[in-house]
Parts: sequence; structure tokens; C-alpha cells
Amino acid sequence: MSEEVFKKVVSHCKEYGFVFTSSEIYDNGLGAVYDYGQNGVELKNNLRQYWWKFMVQMHDNIVGLDAAIFMHPKTWKASGHIDGFSDPMIDNKDSKKRYRADNLLEDKIAKYQKDGKTNKADELQNALDAALLANDLAQLKTLIEQHEIACPISGTRNWTDVRQFNLMFSTEMGAMAEDADKIYLRPETAQGIFVNFLNVQKSGRMKIPFGIAQTGKAFRNEIIARQFIMRMREFEQMEMQFFVRPGTQKKWFEYWKEARLKWHLALGFDKDSYRYHDHVKLAHYADAAVDIEFDFPFGFKEVEGIHSRTDFDLKSHQDLSGKKMQYFDADLDENGKPYGNYIPYVIETSIGLDRLFLYTLCASYKEEEVGEGDKKDTRVVLALPPILAPYKVAIFPLTKKDGLPEVARKIIDDLKFDYNCFYEEKDAIGKRYRRQDALGTPFCITVDHESLENQTVTIRYRDSMLQERIPIADIKSILDKAISWKDILSK
Ligand code: GAP
Repeated sequence: MSEEVFKKVVSHCKEYGFVFTSSEIYDNGLGAVYDYGQNGVELKNNLRQYWWKFMVQMHDNIVGLDAAIFMHPKTWKASGHIDGFSDPMIDNKDSKKRYRADNLLEDKIAKYQKDGKTNKADELQNALDAALLANDLAQLKTLIEQHEIACPISGTRNWTDVRQFNLMFSTEMGAMAEDADKIYLRPETAQGIFVNFLNVQKSGRMKIPFGIAQTGKAFRNEIIARQFIMRMREFEQMEMQFFVRPGTQKKWFEYWKEARLKWHLALGFDKDSYRYHDHVKLAHYADAAVDIEFDFPFGFKEVEGIHSRTDFDLKSHQDLSGKKMQYFDADLDENGKPYGNYIPYVIETSIGLDRLFLYTLCASYKEEEVGEGDKKDTRVVLALPPILAPYKVAIFPLTKKDGLPEVARKIIDDLKFDYNCFYEEKDAIGKRYRRQDALGTPFCITVDHESLENQTVTIRYRDSMLQERIPIADIKSILDKAISWKDILSK
């Protein structure tokens, strides 16, 4: 899929009510913040449900949580975010524009590759990796100068030094300025799970290994916002922390690495669109990490991370709060003694819901040639897995009169408890079908005059565009057969 088609996906999102730029009426909106429209919210809810059902409902040792966005500020000291959650930034003194130093260098590497200068690209990549590993900000600036990188806006090479810029948003809690405390909007949902580890374990009588899952908003002051909803300042994460006995983390890391990829593949998109990317440079808390990447129109990019986080987070919270974060393991070891008290190790799975949404749209968007002769046309169809589609079925009375709308409404009244139904009586039937194709609705039902006589309707299938006559009484069972969580969750 080309960049060209990606542009079409982005405009499709706006035209069909999937995604809008936040507060767009003011100066073209707020950068890197987006709103989900009437169809986007349905698709997003369905994707979130797919994750929740798999992680929580399908695992009897994983439970959910919904922690607050605001947390005690010491949380972020313990997690390392106050001291270490930053990106290396550089400003151009002429345009006054700020850039991520590593992004400027990555763009240069891409340019070298495009121009066939692979040696130069490799050399710069190695130098960039070394500078990032050593956190050597001066070296990043040297590389920018050596490779004669200019500001895309001013065209000059008049750069400031490279500085670290913390990505957390802060605000104040408290009525008076004097007694206000600085607090942060969470940059990840994970810490809400760590600080509640013992609350959940004790109240739920959870036995290790067990997991806690949650979905929710996270906030990062991303300087470079690119590629639509790929990198946002307000986004949604779906994270699960799996608490294990120390020494077993490798086994569980491998387990979740495989289980998570399988979950992606069950969506039914091309399996070659996914790959693992092992981390070479590990975060300070990790002893292993891998990303699941998807082949977006702009290349393979991270969608989900699986991290073996050791006991770093629970131990840091224990140290800073003075509250024990230990678990008592009554199981017996090989010497017949209980494992006793320890701080569990953690395997984390962390996926961005917005990135999942974006790849689902990219993988589903199709332009197809249909018809023949002068009837030749192209149709845009979202070939979404039916269970994810915003509307499962659209019901159309062929005309607005003769009692056809009443029959259509009656069908909806029967289906709406189980399925999101769309009703439309305007425009020619072909036009109505096309609009549903563009939303990804798997089935359309048309009520016509024959329906009044023999209680049958036409069902039209989104993917094959085939139409057939079926009894009204059969609609529900046809939908039940084609749309089921079981199909996707048992793959
Ligand atoms: N708790 C671990 C953690 O937050 P991360 O790799 O920083 O790890 C996990 O983030 C996932 O969250 C990423 O794989 C990505 O899908 C999503 N994500 C991170 N930053 C994002 C952003 N600015 N916009 C959209 N999604 C983002």
C-alpha cells in the first residue's frame, strides 16, 4: 500500500465519521490530538472489546482494573519518568522550530538509503545507536553538523545544543496557587496497575502467576507528531502486567510474545504484515523486550511491546513508599519448602489502541473495480472482520411508502438488542449499498413489495456483493452464524 492510498485512508476517516482533528474549527485544530466520530467510536469500542475479551475473559488468572489518570506524583519519581522520560531535542534558531535530534538523523539515514548511499546510511545508523546508548547529547549535535542537516523550514544549520525534554504533561491540584501540588497526566497506564498490585492480589485472592489488565488514556507531549493517529499527544493504551515468580520470567516472556502475535493474526489480515523486532537497547527496567510491528503504508512500525520488566517497578514503589510490595508464595520448591516472600517479576504486554485502529483501517481499505461496460465503476470497501464493523447490518425499505418502512423498522426492533443496526430510506438502493461498503457493514437487508406478500427480503453481502432472497425469520440466525466473538477468540 502506497503513501497515496494512506492519504485516501486519512480522508476516508474524516468523510465517513471515523476520525476528526480535535477542535478543528480553531486554526485547523490542536496538533496530534484527534476525536473519534460516530463510526470510529464503534470500531474503537469493538477493538477494545476484542482485547479485553481475550486478555480478561479468556484467562481465568487475569483480572481487570480501571485506575485514575491522576496519580500521586511520587509514582512518577519511582517509575523513573520524572528523571528519565525524555527525548533529545534541538531547536533551529532561525525558524524557532523544535525537532527530535534522533528523528532528524533518522530522516537523513532514510535519505541516504533512498539515494543508494547504503554505506553512509549504515555508518550514520551505527553512530546514532552509539550516541543514544551512551546518552551523548553533544555527539548527537556533532552528527547533525557533520551530516550537514538543515532545518526543513528555514533551510539553515543554525542549531542550539541538544537538550533533554521531558514528555510528561503536568498540571496543578489544589484550590490555591500556594498549596497547589504539581501532578502529571499519566504517560502510561501501567503504573496504576503496579500501585494496586497488592489491593487486587489480596481482594481477589490471586495466585501467582496472575495478570492485571487495563485500558485507558495516556498522555505524552510528543514534539514530533507524525502520520495521523500513529503518534498522538493523547492516546489510549491497553496494558497487562503479568506477575510471575522470579526466575520464570524468560518462559513467560516467550509465552506472551507468541500469544500476542497470535491474537493479532486472528484478525485475519495478511500474516506477512507483521513482524517481531527485538530490542537491542533495553530500557533501564527490562531484561528482554520485543515489539510487534505492522507494515503500515509508511513502513513497519511498532504497534505493541512485550517487556520483561523484572521487579523494577514494584521494588521502586516499595522503596519510595515504604510499603511492602511482596507476595507470599505457599507453593513448594524442589526442596519441599515454600517459596515464601518475594517481589514478583513482571511481563508486560502494552498495545496502543489508536495504532491498532489505524492498521485495521489500512488493512481493510480496498478500492475495487466493479461492473462492466458503461456500468464500470470503482467501489471503496472496508473489508473489516464482521465482528469489528461499526454496524453489523443495514436495513433499507426500497421506498418510503406502502408500509415498507414499517416492516424494516420491525426487523430492526427484533435485531437491535444484539446488533448495531443502520436504517436508511433515502437515495437509490445502489447508492445506499455503497455507503455501507465504505463503513464496512457486512450485511444489507432490503425490504420490497414482495416482502409484504411472502415475508422475505433481499440480503446483500458486502464482500461478494451477492444478493439472495431469504425469509425474514432467518435474518437473525444468518447474522448469529457470521458474527461471533467465538470465531475470532478461538483461532
Ligand atoms: N508501559 C509501557 C509503555 O508505555 P511504550 O512502548 O512507550 O510502552 C506502548 O508504549 C504502546 O503505546 C506502543 O507500542 C504504541 O502502540 C502506543 N503508543 C506509545 N506512544 C504513543 C503515541 N504517542 N501515540 C499513539 N500511541 C502510542
